[in-house]
Amino acid sequence: MPKFFDKPQSASLAFMVAGAFWFVVGALYGMISAIHLVSPEFLPNVSWLVFGRERPVHVNTMLYGFVGTMLIGCGLYYTPALLRTRLWSERLAWASFFLWNITILSGPLGFSFGHTQGREYNEYIWSADMILMVAVLLLICNVVMTIANRTEEQLYVSVWYFMATFLWTAGNYPLGNVMWRPATGAMPGLIDSLFLWFWGHNLPGLLITPLATGAAYFVIPRMARTPLNSHTLSLLGFWLLIALYSHIGGHHVLQSPIPNWLKAVSIVDSVAMVVPVSIVVLNLWLTARQRGRLIWGDPAARLIMAGIAWYLITCIQGPVQSLPYLQRVTHFNNWTVGHAHIAMLGFGGYIALGAMYHILPLVTGRCIYSNRLVNLQFGLITFGLTGFFIVLTIAGLIQGNAWNNGETVYRVLPQLAPYFISRAALGVFILTGASVGFYNVVMSIRAGRELSVGELQRAEEAA
Ligand code: HEM
Ligand code: HEM
Repeated sequence: MPKFFDKPQSASLAFMVAGAFWFVVGALYGMISAIHLVSPEFLPNVSWLVFGRERPVHVNTMLYGFVGTMLIGCGLYYTPALLRTRLWSERLAWASFFLWNITILSGPLGFSFGHTQGREYNEYIWSADMILMVAVLLLICNVVMTIANRTEEQLYVSVWYFMATFLWTAGNYPLGNVMWRPATGAMPGLIDSLFLWFWGHNLPGLLITPLATGAAYFVIPRMARTPLNSHTLSLLGFWLLIALYSHIGGHHVLQSPIPNWLKAVSIVDSVAMVVPVSIVVLNLWLTARQRGRLIWGDPAARLIMAGIAWYLITCIQGPVQSLPYLQRVTHFNNWTVGHAHIAMLGFGGYIALGAMYHILPLVTGRCIYSNRLVNLQFGLITFGLTGFFIVLTIAGLIQGNAWNNGETVYRVLPQLAPYFISRAALGVFILTGASVGFYNVVMSIRAGRELSVGELQRAEEAA
């Protein structure tokens, strides 16, 4: 195998670049989906570009491809750095890289031609599920061995989150995807909704959330040049996340005839989620407090703090929309789509981008090509996402009230048109932001100013 695959941190870099690439691809599919919701006759007679096929490509490419891939790349850098050792096997990490990305590629190549299990967030077909699981198992092996070979005694909380992400995914993904039934990847009847939402819920909660939280806990103290406010608090947040988040997926199907005890548990613990979320937000806030100039003056740290702000908003909205009475207005409509975007792009995506921009120079030995482009990307996606949140929330309230008043769908559609047109227009900002970001990443690797040995040492020592 060529030496290339042994180069330290090369797999981390590959994951981060792939994440930036998938952001552009996912945004393109999002744009086409949004246009199709406004103008269904756009690009007629292209069987693989119809809403039902491009929507899952958009969603899966964004979640696994952009946010997940980029955050794994960050973790493959900070885990060995925090353990003061090297990644156990760079080649194994490359193997995970190829397998992980084959699964993501099976979205645009497979879903578009009908190769899907057709269950939201569980669309990958069985063979792609298997490939993803092997990637996860290889990552577990690599991280465990890196921990075993560490020279640093203390396991900083980011390492806990990174390791736990893969352990949880190895347990949760096969369950939600019903992998023991390869033919359908589904259970019969209503019970399937519980399996489906077990993973549909734990994908954001126990894959994206721990990856993003781990990355934020790594970058913020470094940028603030101070230790984390409280290590104990950070671990309390970690254990509360797994104690509460793992079993509340029932809040996605509260309006269905699932057992009442499950609804009750889901609702109560959804509300209790404010505790671990507040712990993360407060701990990072107290770390960054009085270091405003360092944090807000740095484009990467600013993205992360903005991500934390979106996390807070998402997780105030989340418990509220878990209340069944309120959900009668917010369920089955664009309110939830608004929540999904601020959660996945606002929280997961912002932190992925911020951590990537922080780590990229450490991995490549080159400065970011243009901080102005990072700021431009920040502005574009912030404008687009804030707009998304507003128009989708209003559209959702119109739909929800109409539904509750027994109004027919076709009479509501004209009222929604301005919001759907606005969403498509706002998407252009996010797509441009994604493209600017990818260009900046590629240019940083090719033409970023080389860091001097002293600069690189100082940056690495801050870990
Ligand atoms: C306190 C934390 C949270 C609570 C209690 C919560 C609650 C909920 C509820 C009740 C729904 C379903 C709404 C409906 O269908 O009517 C939902 C949807 C969703 N949530 Fe959250 N949420 C939280 C945080 C998050 C976070 C941190 C993420 C992402 C990392 C996230 C991602 C999503 C997504 C993608 C959906 C859309 C699912 C779909 O397609 O229907 N949520 N959330
Ligand atoms: C160019 C920007 C984007 C556009 C135009 C766009 C558009 C769309 C559209 C049209 C849908 C389908 C909504 C429906 O079925 O009614 C959707 C769903 C979704 N998008 Fe995006 N999107 C964009 C960016 C993103 C980003 C950056 C992420 C995550 C990082 C994301 C995550 C999601 C998720 C999780 C859903 C499923 C929501 C649900 O089922 O509740 N999108 N998006």
